[in-house]
Amino acid sequence: MATVKVAEVSDVPVGTGKVVQAGGKTLALFNLGGTFHALDNRCTHMGGPLGEGAVEGNRVTCPWHGSIFNITNGEVVGPPARRPVATFPVHVEGNKVLIDLP
Ligand code: FES
Repeated sequence: MATVKVAEVSDVPVGTGKVVQAGGKTLALFNLGGTFHALDNRCTHMGGPLGEGAVEGNRVTCPWHGSIFNITNGEVVGPPARRPVATFPVHVEGNKVLIDLP
């Protein structure tokens, strides 16, 4: 397992998401009320960039066709996607946002 710094805390304001790179993967990093979460950036429908989606509560809407995912666990909340997206553990050290990659 590798731990990779992907952002500074200040890069991702509360209630927003950001596309980040970590160990060759493209991930979607979200800040929900000061707690960070990371999902695979690729929507399981057709690969839309979830890190560019609109965040509302703990949900993100894919910008391509409107699938909705739960940011905290990657589960599908609204179609057309049917499969959950992978999640990755995130932790914060000082001002650094770190992601654990398998
Ligand atoms: S690619 Fe995300 S809803 Fe289609």
